[in-house]
Amino acid sequence: MIRLEEVSYNYPDGTPALENINLTVKKGEFLGIIGKNGSGKSTLALQLNGLLKPKTGRVKIRGMDTRDPSKLPGIRKLVGVVFQNPETQFVGRTIEEDLAFGPENLCLPPVEIRRCVDMALAETGLQKYKYRSPKTLSGGQGQCVALAGILAMSPECLIFDEITSMLDPESGKAVLETIKKLHKKGKTVVYITHNLEELYDADRIIVMEKGKIRLEGEPESVFSNPSLQALGLALPSVIELAELLKTHGMVIPWEKTFSPQSFAEELCRLFLKT
Ligand SMILES: Nc1ncnc2c1ncn2[C@@H]1O[C@H](COP(=O)(O)OP(=O)(O)O)[C@@H](O)[C@H]1O
Ligand SMILES: [Mg+2]
Repeated sequence: MIRLEEVSYNYPDGTPALENINLTVKKGEFLGIIGKNGSGKSTLALQLNGLLKPKTGRVKIRGMDTRDPSKLPGIRKLVGVVFQNPETQFVGRTIEEDLAFGPENLCLPPVEIRRCVDMALAETGLQKYKYRSPKTLSGGQGQCVALAGILAMSPECLIFDEITSMLDPESGKAVLETIKKLHKKGKTVVYITHNLEELYDADRIIVMEKGKIRLEGEPESVFSNPSLQALGLALPSVIELAELLKTHGMVIPWEKTFSPQSFAEELCRLFLKT
């Protein structure tokens, strides 16, 4: 679906941001991208729908090269990006109006625009707010509107750049659940975060540092990689405990480390047995 070949990028002031990135995002995949601040995650996100173009190498979205201006409308239709600060993206007086903006730009007929807006409202549970101004929403609702705005254009692939980092844990969880639901319905998802806990269910995780991909693999192998902390990332505390116990010879199965509850239950089971 998305293919990056030897992609490098420097900002106009010369700051290097990406170096020789090779990456394929498969259709239907949930890819997690993690890395500390400044590692190049947002620059990568901007490459994925042609908002930035590689200085060397190429980015292809279903065969369409992002450096070919004639392909950009097609690329933007396939790939939608949701950023950290949604307020900067709102254009409508009401949520409904805001959601109609994308489909209008695609020059869809009014009936079709209505259908897209209703579908986006339904997928994100925003029906009851449709006449409200996007400016009056909480952070979590604001991110849902931003997500709905992208959904209204029916992209196949959704890119999220640290969208929960400004939200309280509960709102963050709700937004992530909506995204997982969309993934289950077949959307390809690229989910950027610096919170590893959000990536337990990812199909694959890549870890970035200084514009490069340093690690790649399924969550289990990435979470237990000893170099993760050296890359500036904090493990979820349950995983950290499990890794410590492993050094003492006590192995907690991976699936028991998804929550403090399952971890505690497993510990009790092991202790009660001995
Ligand atoms: N507009 C910009 N101009 C110059 N340098 C930038 C710009 N945006 C980001 N950078 C630099 O590019 C590198 C990668 O940044 P970014 O992709 O934003 O990382 P992340 O999203 O992982 O925090 C950093 O060194 C950052 O300072
Ligand atoms: Mg960023």
